[in-house]
Amino acid sequence: MKVTLSVIKADIGGYVGHSTSHPKILEKAEECLKAAKKEGTLIDYHVTSCGDDVQLIMTHKKGEDNKAVHKLAWDTFVEGTKIAKKLKLHGAGQDLLSDAFSGNVKAMGPGVAEMEIEERQAETVIIFMADKTSSGAWNMPLYKMFADPFNTIGLVIAGNMHGGFAFEVHDVKEHKKITFNAPEEIYDMLVFMGAPSRYAVKAVYHRETGEVAAVSSTQRLSMMAGRYVGKDDPVCIVRSQGNFPAVGEILEPFTMPAMVEGWMRGSHHGPLMPVAQHQANPSRFDGPPRVISYGFQLADGKLVGPRDMFDDPAFDEPRRWANQAAEYLRRHGPFEPHRLPLEEMEYTTMPQVMKKLQKRFVKL
Ligand code: F6R
Ligand code: MG
Ligand code: MG
Repeated sequence: MKVTLSVIKADIGGYVGHSTSHPKILEKAEECLKAAKKEGTLIDYHVTSCGDDVQLIMTHKKGEDNKAVHKLAWDTFVEGTKIAKKLKLHGAGQDLLSDAFSGNVKAMGPGVAEMEIEERQAETVIIFMADKTSSGAWNMPLYKMFADPFNTIGLVIAGNMHGGFAFEVHDVKEHKKITFNAPEEIYDMLVFMGAPSRYAVKAVYHRETGEVAAVSSTQRLSMMAGRYVGKDDPVCIVRSQGNFPAVGEILEPFTMPAMVEGWMRGSHHGPLMPVAQHQANPSRFDGPPRVISYGFQLADGKLVGPRDMFDDPAFDEPRRWANQAAEYLRRHGPFEPHRLPLEEMEYTTMPQVMKKLQKRFVKL
């Protein structure tokens, strides 16, 4: 049976500040998706949040980029925004860049990751959701899952993965894409993937079967809006077991809290801390960046779960390590490399300040 898994997310208002989502907004989203399930648009759904981002996890039979599903997500965010406005939450409607829905939420602010799949006998999926970071944050974890034998032993000893995976990499500034075959092209691939502010992994495919293995949201909010409107806070769906890495191989990359863009005012580098959903409320210096992972088994499109995968003491040490890295970086204050390099600061609020000072520069 073919089923589509759509994860659509948006920050439509923070409580308190940009730290988390208000329960009333999540209740409203639940209500909207419940009605859509009853009326047949969705097979199933799960609503959650990561920090100040509302996450709509939906299954249906309508395929990717479906107008009805995207409109449902948009309308749900519009309804949530009404509540955010009433409660005077911070940044109400922040990620809704347009006043009216135009067929697809992709260029309108919300982040989207979708995959249409032939549901396997046992369809294990892991959904990663992040806050206070940008769309390239998945590059290193996806590389480790699908191309690094030091992370994924299955690439070496499991015959059904030994043929490798193909990576679709998007140039988020020039709007171009390229596909690399791992393992033989990993050196070429890392030239681009290693620069996550510009190149983001959009999808990964099993090379022998062509099956989709992972998809991410690569929308860069600042590129869409042409100004700073907050960070992308991306999502990523990864299929697991059988032809794909085991659950443990998919979670393993997050034991290294990689340095990512985001954190305070979307203008800093900080460690990506893997946490349980109830801990995804970034408060220290509006961070540090968080990632949560929800595991599901799909049963004829029904979402059996979630299991909160980082709710495991085995991730205590990565969290401690992330706190140490955060502490070290914070001591740099306004200096690089804690603050983003100038080129990336173009997409923050800093250019306005620089413009004001421009006249005071005199020739040397
Ligand atoms: C980062 C983020 C926050 C805000 C900061 C200022 O993604 O959302 O760090 O940038 O709290 O917020 P405003 O400008 O809304 O007062
Ligand atoms: Mg926010
Ligand atoms: Mg956010």
